[in-house]
Amino acid sequence: MTLSDIARKLVGQRKGLLAMDESTTTCNRRLESIGLLPNAELRRDWRDLIVSTPNLGRCISGAILVDETIRETARDGRSFVAVLEEAGIIPGIKVDLGAEEMAAFPGEKITEGLDGLRGRLADYAVLGTRFAKWRAVISVGKDLPSRGAIEANAHALARFAALCQEAGLVPIVEPELLMTGDDTLEDCDRTTELVLRTVFEQLRVGRVALDGLILKPNMVSPGLKCPIQTPVEAVAQATVQCLLRTVPADVAGVAFLSGGQTGELASARLMAINRIASRPGSSTPWPLTFSFARAIQWPALQIWAGRDENVWRAQVALFKRANCSRAALIGEYDAEMELRSA
Ligand code: 13P
Repeated sequence: MTLSDIARKLVGQRKGLLAMDESTTTCNRRLESIGLLPNAELRRDWRDLIVSTPNLGRCISGAILVDETIRETARDGRSFVAVLEEAGIIPGIKVDLGAEEMAAFPGEKITEGLDGLRGRLADYAVLGTRFAKWRAVISVGKDLPSRGAIEANAHALARFAALCQEAGLVPIVEPELLMTGDDTLEDCDRTTELVLRTVFEQLRVGRVALDGLILKPNMVSPGLKCPIQTPVEAVAQATVQCLLRTVPADVAGVAFLSGGQTGELASARLMAINRIASRPGSSTPWPLTFSFARAIQWPALQIWAGRDENVWRAQVALFKRANCSRAALIGEYDAEMELRSA
């Protein structure tokens, strides 16, 4: 299968991606937030619950794992990769080593993990993954982001993408503008445009084949603390227009991150985005889908609470969020869906 075949399977089937690639630190933080004392077994159990959710493959085309999980076995003894494959879900892996403070750029981050990446990608390909993700974190605020931080992160994304393609893996390039502040929709629009232009310039210079690449951007939206929370339609309109201005037509697809939005809001915005993106005059040349972590996982994590007797109810909740996200892709999501059981 060529890179563009794999990419098309990930983004072109009117299904989305599930990110379950939290680092150990982030996964522990999530477990602590529901009152658990995190350890490797609990992390494994949580991820096992996710991949063994019945019918997940109806909504999810690919799942992004993390290094800790890729070599582990699920409770039934199968590898996580095998469980996903048997569910019809393509396994992928996050390969960056996290975002660290960037020297000389206070308040900004640079993602690490390029050293030795060629060897790690070769190992991941042998383990059965077909795609890989790298996340750059772009801080937004007064005088931020700086040109230096945008360029350094874009350059790293391009080097990651070229190495992935060399290893036969589809790169998911994720330049994430943090949506946690009080920036307005217009601020987010301007900065997202600048970041995406810089990323695609670096991808071009880095000789990355765009038809074998997936972009994972933030939606263009006001920060979570912004006092003016623009309506769903305005977010969708700004998002589609920003992408049309910046993303080359030969990119295989665009898969949005959720960035801390509730599952309901992420589904509603995705539905509006897809509606606009299929209208004449604003139709996009690439498929649009989701690659959510929190917007799919969060309610299920709270229901599970680390207890075996809650696994089934948690899986029902997880499937419901995956199903609502998929419904948003095919124009069938509405608020009533939230009231119905999965
Ligand atoms: P969220 O959907 O929770 O933003 O996570 C997506 C992701 O993969 C972050 O790297």
